[in-house]
Amino acid sequence: MDIVIKRALLIIIVSEVMTVSAFKIAVDDGSTNVKVSWIENNQLKTIVSPNSFRKDWKSAALRRDKKVYNYTIGTTKYTYDATSDKALATTHVDYQYDDLNLLAVHHALMQTGLKPCTVTLVVTLPITEFYNSEDCQRNEEKITKKRANLMREISLNKGELFEVADVEVMPESLPAVLSTLINSDCNEFSRSLVVDCGGTTLDMGIIVGPFDDVSAVYGNNEIGVSMVTDAARKALASADSDSSYLVANELIKRRHDLDFVKEVVNDESQINNILDKIEIKIQELGSAVAYEAKKFAKNPNRVYLVGGGAPLVYDAIQAAYEVLGDRVVLIKDAQSALARELCLYNTDVKEVHIERETLVEVEDE
Ligand SMILES: Nc1ncnc2c1ncn2[C@@H]1O[C@H](COP(=O)(O)OP(=O)(O)OP(=O)(O)O)[C@@H](O)[C@H]1O
Ligand SMILES: [Mg+2]
Repeated sequence: MDIVIKRALLIIIVSEVMTVSAFKIAVDDGSTNVKVSWIENNQLKTIVSPNSFRKDWKSAALRRDKKVYNYTIGTTKYTYDATSDKALATTHVDYQYDDLNLLAVHHALMQTGLKPCTVTLVVTLPITEFYNSEDCQRNEEKITKKRANLMREISLNKGELFEVADVEVMPESLPAVLSTLINSDCNEFSRSLVVDCGGTTLDMGIIVGPFDDVSAVYGNNEIGVSMVTDAARKALASADSDSSYLVANELIKRRHDLDFVKEVVNDESQINNILDKIEIKIQELGSAVAYEAKKFAKNPNRVYLVGGGAPLVYDAIQAAYEVLGDRVVLIKDAQSALARELCLYNTDVKEVHIERETLVEVEDE
Protein backbone atom coordinates (compact mmCIF):
# COMPACT_ATOMS: atom_id res chain seq x y z
CA MET A 1 0.00 0.00 0.00
CA ASP A 2 2.73 2.32 1.11
CA ILE A 3 4.68 1.60 -2.04
CA VAL A 4 1.64 2.27 -4.19
CA ILE A 5 1.13 5.68 -2.57
CA LYS A 6 4.80 6.53 -2.92
CA ARG A 7 4.70 5.57 -6.56
CA ALA A 8 1.63 7.66 -7.13
CA LEU A 9 3.34 10.59 -5.45
CA LEU A 10 6.42 10.09 -7.56
CA ILE A 11 4.33 10.13 -10.72
CA ILE A 12 2.67 13.36 -9.59
CA ILE A 13 6.03 14.95 -8.79
CA VAL A 14 7.55 13.84 -12.09
CA SER A 15 4.60 15.13 -14.08
CA GLU A 16 4.72 18.43 -12.14
CA VAL A 17 8.40 18.78 -12.93
CA MET A 18 7.72 17.96 -16.55
CA THR A 19 5.00 20.57 -16.91
CA VAL A 20 6.87 23.20 -14.92
CA SER A 21 10.16 22.66 -16.74
CA ALA A 22 8.73 23.63 -20.16
CA PHE A 23 8.22 27.30 -19.51
CA LYS A 24 5.71 28.82 -21.93
CA ILE A 25 6.72 31.87 -23.92
CA ALA A 26 4.66 33.72 -26.53
CA VAL A 27 6.68 34.79 -29.56
CA ASP A 28 5.17 36.89 -32.33
CA ASP A 29 8.04 36.33 -34.74
CA GLY A 30 7.35 38.97 -37.32
CA SER A 31 9.52 39.54 -40.33
CA THR A 32 11.15 42.70 -38.99
CA ASN A 33 10.81 42.38 -35.22
CA VAL A 34 10.28 39.51 -32.83
CA LYS A 35 7.95 40.35 -29.96
CA VAL A 36 8.32 38.12 -26.89
CA SER A 37 5.96 38.00 -23.87
CA TRP A 38 6.25 35.87 -20.76
CA ILE A 39 5.04 35.86 -17.19
CA GLU A 40 7.51 36.18 -14.35
CA ASN A 41 6.28 36.58 -10.76
CA ASN A 42 2.80 37.50 -11.97
CA GLN A 43 4.22 40.22 -14.22
CA LEU A 44 3.62 40.08 -17.95
CA LYS A 45 6.87 41.17 -19.55
CA THR A 46 7.43 42.02 -23.19
CA ILE A 47 10.46 42.76 -25.30
CA VAL A 48 10.79 43.74 -28.95
CA SER A 49 13.89 42.36 -30.65
CA PRO A 50 14.72 43.70 -34.12
CA ASN A 51 15.97 41.31 -36.80
CA SER A 52 19.38 42.20 -38.17
CA PHE A 53 21.61 39.28 -39.00
CA ARG A 54 24.43 38.79 -41.43
CA LYS A 55 26.54 35.86 -42.57
CA ASP A 56 29.83 34.93 -40.82
CA TRP A 57 30.93 35.72 -37.28
CA LYS A 58 31.89 38.88 -35.53
CA SER A 59 35.14 39.19 -33.62
CA ALA A 60 34.99 39.62 -29.87
CA ALA A 61 33.72 43.00 -28.75
CA LEU A 62 36.23 45.52 -27.49
CA ARG A 63 34.06 46.45 -24.57
CA ARG A 64 33.46 43.68 -22.09
CA ASP A 65 29.83 44.68 -21.48
CA LYS A 66 29.00 44.22 -25.17
CA LYS A 67 27.94 40.69 -25.92
CA VAL A 68 28.68 39.16 -29.31
CA TYR A 69 26.09 36.73 -30.65
CA ASN A 70 27.71 34.30 -33.09
CA TYR A 71 25.43 31.46 -34.19
CA THR A 72 25.81 28.30 -36.25
CA ILE A 73 23.01 26.50 -38.08
CA GLY A 74 24.21 23.38 -39.87
CA THR A 75 27.48 24.55 -41.36
CA THR A 76 26.46 28.17 -41.83
CA LYS A 77 27.71 30.88 -39.52
CA TYR A 78 25.61 33.94 -38.68
CA THR A 79 25.96 36.88 -36.37
CA TYR A 80 23.65 39.52 -34.94
CA ASP A 81 24.72 42.85 -36.37
CA ALA A 82 22.50 45.79 -35.54
CA THR A 83 24.10 48.30 -37.81
CA SER A 84 25.39 46.29 -40.76
CA ASP A 85 24.29 47.35 -44.22
CA LYS A 86 24.77 43.68 -45.17
CA ALA A 87 21.90 42.55 -42.96
CA LEU A 88 20.02 39.70 -44.61
CA ALA A 89 16.49 40.52 -45.71
CA THR A 90 13.77 38.94 -43.62
CA THR A 91 10.97 40.75 -45.36
CA HIS A 92 9.63 37.94 -47.51
CA VAL A 93 7.13 35.20 -46.72
CA ASP A 94 9.67 32.34 -46.98
CA TYR A 95 11.36 33.87 -43.95
CA GLN A 96 8.71 32.09 -41.84
CA TYR A 97 10.39 28.76 -42.60
CA ASP A 98 14.11 29.49 -42.97
CA ASP A 99 17.37 29.87 -41.02
CA LEU A 100 16.75 33.53 -40.32
CA ASN A 101 13.50 32.80 -38.52
CA LEU A 102 15.22 30.22 -36.31
CA LEU A 103 17.96 32.76 -35.59
CA ALA A 104 15.53 35.59 -34.91
CA VAL A 105 13.49 33.58 -32.41
CA HIS A 106 16.51 32.29 -30.49
CA HIS A 107 18.15 35.70 -30.51
CA ALA A 108 14.95 37.27 -29.16
CA LEU A 109 14.72 34.65 -26.40
CA MET A 110 18.27 35.55 -25.39
CA GLN A 111 17.17 39.18 -24.99
CA THR A 112 14.57 38.33 -22.33
CA GLY A 113 17.22 38.15 -19.63
CA LEU A 114 15.82 34.75 -18.60
CA LYS A 115 18.29 31.99 -17.92
CA PRO A 116 18.25 29.61 -20.91
CA CYS A 117 15.89 26.74 -20.11
CA THR A 118 13.51 24.32 -21.80
CA VAL A 119 10.58 26.19 -23.30
CA THR A 120 7.31 25.67 -25.12
CA LEU A 121 6.87 28.39 -27.69
CA VAL A 122 3.62 29.87 -28.97
CA VAL A 123 4.57 31.41 -32.32
CA THR A 124 2.66 33.05 -35.16
CA LEU A 125 2.12 32.70 -38.90
CA PRO A 126 0.60 35.36 -41.18
CA ILE A 127 -3.16 34.73 -41.56
CA THR A 128 -2.77 33.90 -45.23
CA GLU A 129 -0.18 31.23 -44.42
CA PHE A 130 -2.08 29.89 -41.42
CA TYR A 131 -5.38 29.51 -43.29
CA ASN A 132 -6.04 28.15 -46.78
CA SER A 133 -7.30 31.11 -48.73
CA GLU A 134 -10.10 29.15 -50.47
CA ASP A 135 -11.88 27.69 -47.46
CA CYS A 136 -10.46 29.47 -44.38
CA GLN A 137 -9.33 26.11 -42.93
CA ARG A 138 -5.99 25.67 -41.13
CA ASN A 139 -3.13 25.00 -43.52
CA GLU A 140 -1.65 22.05 -41.62
CA GLU A 141 1.23 21.66 -44.06
CA LYS A 142 2.51 25.18 -43.44
CA ILE A 143 1.89 24.97 -39.70
CA THR A 144 3.93 21.74 -39.54
CA LYS A 145 6.66 23.32 -41.65
CA LYS A 146 6.94 26.25 -39.26
CA ARG A 147 7.04 23.97 -36.17
CA ALA A 148 9.72 21.77 -37.73
CA ASN A 149 11.83 24.79 -38.65
CA LEU A 150 11.84 26.07 -35.07
CA MET A 151 12.76 22.69 -33.60
CA ARG A 152 15.99 22.51 -35.61
CA GLU A 153 19.46 22.57 -34.08
CA ILE A 154 21.17 25.89 -33.61
CA SER A 155 24.16 26.79 -31.45
CA LEU A 156 25.60 29.93 -29.92
CA ASN A 157 29.36 30.27 -29.79
CA LYS A 158 30.51 30.52 -26.16
CA GLY A 159 27.00 30.40 -24.82
CA GLU A 160 23.92 28.39 -24.10
CA LEU A 161 20.61 28.73 -25.93
CA PHE A 162 17.02 27.92 -24.92
CA GLU A 163 15.90 24.41 -25.68
CA VAL A 164 12.66 24.31 -27.62
CA ALA A 165 10.60 21.35 -26.38
CA ASP A 166 7.46 22.15 -28.34
CA VAL A 167 6.03 24.75 -30.68
CA GLU A 168 2.40 25.85 -31.00
CA VAL A 169 1.44 27.95 -33.99
CA MET A 170 -1.27 30.65 -33.90
CA PRO A 171 -2.57 32.98 -36.61
CA GLU A 172 -1.26 36.53 -36.63
CA SER A 173 -3.32 39.64 -36.03
CA LEU A 174 -6.77 38.62 -34.81
CA PRO A 175 -5.89 37.40 -31.30
CA ALA A 176 -4.25 40.79 -30.69
CA VAL A 177 -7.62 42.33 -29.84
CA LEU A 178 -8.91 39.47 -27.70
CA SER A 179 -9.11 41.25 -24.35
CA THR A 180 -10.05 44.62 -25.90
CA LEU A 181 -13.08 43.01 -27.52
CA ILE A 182 -14.07 40.98 -24.48
CA ASN A 183 -13.92 44.12 -22.32
CA SER A 184 -15.82 46.24 -24.86
CA ASP A 185 -19.57 46.61 -24.89
CA CYS A 186 -19.95 45.04 -28.33
CA ASN A 187 -22.86 42.64 -28.83
CA GLU A 188 -23.10 39.40 -30.78
CA PHE A 189 -23.93 41.25 -33.99
CA SER A 190 -20.95 43.66 -33.91
CA ARG A 191 -18.55 43.31 -36.79
CA SER A 192 -15.03 44.37 -35.87
CA LEU A 193 -12.39 44.91 -38.48
CA VAL A 194 -8.83 44.22 -37.30
CA VAL A 195 -6.11 45.83 -39.40
CA ASP A 196 -2.53 44.63 -38.76
CA CYS A 197 0.05 46.74 -40.52
CA GLY A 198 3.38 44.97 -40.00
CA GLY A 199 6.83 45.26 -41.46
CA THR A 200 6.11 43.29 -44.63
CA THR A 201 2.44 42.38 -44.66
CA LEU A 202 -0.96 43.90 -44.24
CA ASP A 203 -3.31 41.40 -42.61
CA MET A 204 -6.99 41.98 -41.95
CA GLY A 205 -9.85 40.01 -40.50
CA ILE A 206 -13.43 40.49 -39.42
CA ILE A 207 -14.48 39.26 -36.01
CA VAL A 208 -18.15 38.80 -35.22
CA GLY A 209 -19.30 39.65 -31.69
CA PRO A 210 -16.86 39.43 -28.78
CA PHE A 211 -14.86 36.75 -30.64
CA ASP A 212 -17.75 34.42 -31.55
CA ASP A 213 -16.62 33.92 -35.10
CA VAL A 214 -14.09 35.01 -37.71
CA SER A 215 -16.03 35.80 -40.84
CA ALA A 216 -13.30 36.74 -43.32
CA VAL A 217 -9.53 37.10 -43.58
CA TYR A 218 -7.32 38.92 -46.03
CA GLY A 219 -3.58 39.34 -46.48
CA ASN A 220 -1.42 41.41 -48.73
CA ASN A 221 2.32 40.69 -48.84
CA GLU A 222 3.11 43.86 -50.69
CA ILE A 223 1.90 46.44 -48.22
CA GLY A 224 3.86 47.07 -45.03
CA VAL A 225 6.15 49.48 -43.23
CA SER A 226 9.05 48.17 -45.34
CA MET A 227 7.72 50.41 -48.15
CA VAL A 228 8.67 53.35 -45.94
CA THR A 229 11.85 51.65 -44.69
CA ASP A 230 13.09 51.04 -48.25
CA ALA A 231 12.45 54.68 -49.18
CA ALA A 232 14.25 55.83 -46.03
CA ARG A 233 17.26 53.59 -46.79
CA LYS A 234 17.46 54.88 -50.34
CA ALA A 235 17.22 58.49 -49.20
CA LEU A 236 19.89 57.87 -46.56
CA ALA A 237 22.20 56.21 -49.09
CA SER A 238 21.92 59.21 -51.38
CA ALA A 239 23.05 61.37 -48.45
CA ASP A 240 26.21 59.27 -47.95
CA SER A 241 24.65 57.47 -45.00
CA ASP A 242 24.21 53.78 -45.83
CA SER A 243 22.16 52.13 -43.15
CA SER A 244 20.63 48.86 -42.07
CA TYR A 245 16.88 48.24 -41.97
CA LEU A 246 17.13 48.68 -38.24
CA VAL A 247 18.55 52.19 -38.38
CA ALA A 248 16.12 53.20 -41.13
CA ASN A 249 13.19 51.93 -39.02
CA GLU A 250 14.44 53.80 -36.00
CA LEU A 251 14.67 56.94 -38.11
CA ILE A 252 11.04 56.54 -39.22
CA LYS A 253 9.89 56.18 -35.63
CA ARG A 254 12.02 59.05 -34.35
CA ARG A 255 11.67 61.35 -37.36
CA HIS A 256 10.45 64.19 -35.11
CA ASP A 257 13.53 63.91 -32.87
CA LEU A 258 16.06 66.15 -34.62
CA ASP A 259 19.01 65.07 -32.48
CA PHE A 260 18.48 61.49 -33.51
CA VAL A 261 18.03 62.45 -37.17
CA LYS A 262 21.33 64.35 -37.11
CA GLU A 263 23.02 61.33 -35.59
CA VAL A 264 22.21 59.06 -38.53
CA VAL A 265 22.34 61.49 -41.46
CA ASN A 266 25.92 62.32 -42.41
CA ASP A 267 25.10 65.03 -44.94
CA GLU A 268 23.03 67.49 -42.87
CA SER A 269 21.97 69.49 -45.92
CA GLN A 270 19.92 66.44 -46.95
CA ILE A 271 17.90 66.18 -43.74
CA ASN A 272 14.76 67.96 -45.00
CA ASN A 273 14.86 66.05 -48.24
CA ILE A 274 15.09 62.73 -46.40
CA LEU A 275 12.29 63.60 -43.97
CA ASP A 276 10.06 64.71 -46.87
CA LYS A 277 10.62 61.43 -48.68
CA ILE A 278 9.74 59.51 -45.52
CA GLU A 279 6.58 61.58 -44.99
CA ILE A 280 5.44 61.00 -48.58
CA LYS A 281 5.87 57.25 -48.18
CA ILE A 282 3.96 57.28 -44.88
CA GLN A 283 1.06 58.99 -46.70
CA GLU A 284 1.29 56.43 -49.50
CA LEU A 285 1.25 53.59 -47.00
CA GLY A 286 -1.77 55.13 -45.23
CA SER A 287 -3.68 55.50 -48.51
CA ALA A 288 -2.86 51.95 -49.60
CA VAL A 289 -3.95 50.48 -46.25
CA ALA A 290 -7.15 52.59 -46.18
CA TYR A 291 -8.00 51.61 -49.76
CA GLU A 292 -7.52 47.88 -49.09
CA ALA A 293 -9.43 48.11 -45.80
CA LYS A 294 -12.42 49.82 -47.43
CA LYS A 295 -12.41 47.26 -50.22
CA PHE A 296 -12.34 44.43 -47.71
CA ALA A 297 -14.82 45.81 -45.18
CA LYS A 298 -16.94 48.74 -46.26
CA ASN A 299 -19.04 49.25 -43.16
CA PRO A 300 -17.75 47.48 -40.07
CA ASN A 301 -19.01 48.61 -36.65
CA ARG A 302 -15.52 48.99 -35.20
CA VAL A 303 -11.98 49.13 -36.48
CA TYR A 304 -8.93 48.11 -34.44
CA LEU A 305 -5.40 48.91 -35.54
CA VAL A 306 -2.50 46.68 -34.49
CA GLY A 307 1.09 46.03 -35.65
CA GLY A 308 4.07 48.34 -35.67
CA GLY A 309 2.74 50.34 -38.63
CA ALA A 310 -0.53 51.16 -36.81
CA PRO A 311 0.54 54.63 -35.60
CA LEU A 312 1.69 55.48 -39.14
CA VAL A 313 -1.66 54.65 -40.79
CA TYR A 314 -4.04 55.65 -37.99
CA ASP A 315 -4.97 59.05 -39.46
CA ALA A 316 -5.67 57.60 -42.91
CA ILE A 317 -7.88 54.84 -41.45
CA GLN A 318 -9.71 57.29 -39.23
CA ALA A 319 -10.48 59.45 -42.27
CA ALA A 320 -11.63 56.43 -44.27
CA TYR A 321 -14.07 55.39 -41.51
CA GLU A 322 -14.96 58.90 -40.36
CA VAL A 323 -18.51 58.01 -39.30
CA LEU A 324 -17.18 55.56 -36.72
CA GLY A 325 -15.46 58.34 -34.74
CA ASP A 326 -13.79 56.91 -31.65
CA ARG A 327 -14.73 53.40 -32.71
CA VAL A 328 -11.58 53.46 -34.79
CA VAL A 329 -9.12 52.37 -32.12
CA LEU A 330 -5.33 52.37 -32.14
CA ILE A 331 -4.43 49.54 -29.74
CA LYS A 332 -1.97 50.63 -27.04
CA ASP A 333 1.59 49.45 -27.75
CA ALA A 334 0.20 48.15 -31.04
CA GLN A 335 3.40 46.46 -32.15
CA SER A 336 3.52 43.99 -29.27
CA ALA A 337 -0.23 43.57 -28.66
CA LEU A 338 -0.34 40.14 -30.27
CA ALA A 339 2.51 38.68 -28.19
CA ARG A 340 0.93 40.04 -24.98
CA GLU A 341 -2.50 38.63 -25.78
CA LEU A 342 -1.11 35.23 -26.83
CA CYS A 343 0.76 35.04 -23.55
CA LEU A 344 -2.30 35.98 -21.48
CA TYR A 345 -4.48 33.56 -23.46
CA ASN A 346 -2.09 30.67 -22.84
CA THR A 347 -1.47 31.11 -19.12
CA ASP A 348 -3.08 29.63 -16.03
CA VAL A 349 -1.76 32.43 -13.82
CA LYS A 350 -4.81 34.23 -12.42
CA GLU A 351 -3.54 37.68 -11.52
CA VAL A 352 -1.19 39.21 -14.04
CA HIS A 353 0.22 42.73 -13.97
CA ILE A 354 1.21 44.10 -17.32
CA GLU A 355 4.53 45.84 -17.76
CA ARG A 356 5.23 48.10 -20.70
CA GLU A 357 7.23 46.66 -23.55
CA THR A 358 10.97 47.24 -23.77
CA LEU A 359 12.64 47.66 -27.10
CA VAL A 360 15.99 45.94 -27.21
CA GLU A 361 18.27 48.87 -27.80
CA VAL A 362 20.03 49.61 -31.04
CA GLU A 363 23.67 49.07 -30.18
CA ASP A 364 26.19 51.72 -31.06
CA GLU A 365 29.43 49.98 -31.77
N1 LIG B 1 5.63 53.65 -32.92
C1 LIG B 1 5.99 53.35 -34.16
N2 LIG B 1 5.96 54.29 -35.15
C2 LIG B 1 6.31 53.99 -36.39
N3 LIG B 1 6.74 52.78 -36.81
C3 LIG B 1 6.82 51.83 -35.88
C4 LIG B 1 6.44 52.05 -34.52
N4 LIG B 1 6.62 50.91 -33.83
C5 LIG B 1 7.09 50.02 -34.72
N5 LIG B 1 7.22 50.57 -35.96
C6 LIG B 1 7.68 49.93 -37.18
O1 LIG B 1 6.81 48.87 -37.50
C7 LIG B 1 7.52 47.86 -38.17
C8 LIG B 1 7.38 46.56 -37.50
O2 LIG B 1 6.10 46.28 -37.15
P1 LIG B 1 5.76 44.83 -36.64
O3 LIG B 1 6.67 44.46 -35.53
O4 LIG B 1 4.32 44.78 -36.40
O5 LIG B 1 6.14 44.03 -37.96
P2 LIG B 1 6.43 42.50 -38.12
O6 LIG B 1 5.50 41.75 -37.27
O7 LIG B 1 7.88 42.29 -37.95
O8 LIG B 1 6.08 42.31 -39.65
P3 LIG B 1 5.03 41.34 -40.35
O9 LIG B 1 3.85 41.27 -39.47
O10 LIG B 1 4.73 42.01 -41.64
O11 LIG B 1 5.77 40.08 -40.54
C9 LIG B 1 8.98 48.23 -38.15
O12 LIG B 1 9.30 48.76 -39.40
C10 LIG B 1 9.03 49.25 -37.03
O13 LIG B 1 10.09 50.14 -37.20
MG1 LIG C 1 3.50 41.01 -37.45
